[in-house]
Amino acid sequence: MTRVVCPGSFDPVTNGHLDIVRRASRLFDEVVVAVLVNESKKSLFSLEERMDLLARATSDLPNVSVDSFQGLLVDFCTEHDVSAIVKGLRAVSDFDYELQMAQMNGNLTDVDTVFIPTSPEYSFLASSLVKEVAKGGGDVSGLVPDFVLARLDEVFGR
Ligand code: PNS
Repeated sequence: MTRVVCPGSFDPVTNGHLDIVRRASRLFDEVVVAVLVNESKKSLFSLEERMDLLARATSDLPNVSVDSFQGLLVDFCTEHDVSAIVKGLRAVSDFDYELQMAQMNGNLTDVDTVFIPTSPEYSFLASSLVKEVAKGGGDVSGLVPDFVLARLDEVFGR
């Protein structure tokens, strides 16, 4: 049985994240989507809401679960018997930092990192940009699930 983790801040989950999670769920037996608890980073959505939105967005995928973690990702992997970290790669610009993290994580434990190329229609997509555009009144429909769109509208008073 191969259990993998898709880690991130997911503030909020986008269709780009879901593309990677969905494809990982076809490749591996179990996928744990792990939301980073980062008290030093101000998030738009609480940890509970980020996890709830993710759970709703992945409810049709029986081998996907949602969890959270604090501290090092490699410790989460050891504690949860995770054999690989799955990351999406949007562009070459992602690669340097992702490679560095993959190598550091591999140096800390024997956990491997598997990169999945983001589908081209999502290669520009990032939670930070979704928030910026939604805040400015721009249209982010099609980039996030409808219930995330509704929450963004509420948060930004639209
Ligand atoms: O969605 P993000 O914010 O780009 O995700 C980044 C994340 C959570 C995958 C990364 O920051 C992470 O793994 N943080 C956990 C702390 C850790 O293990 N740091 C060492 C990385 S080599």
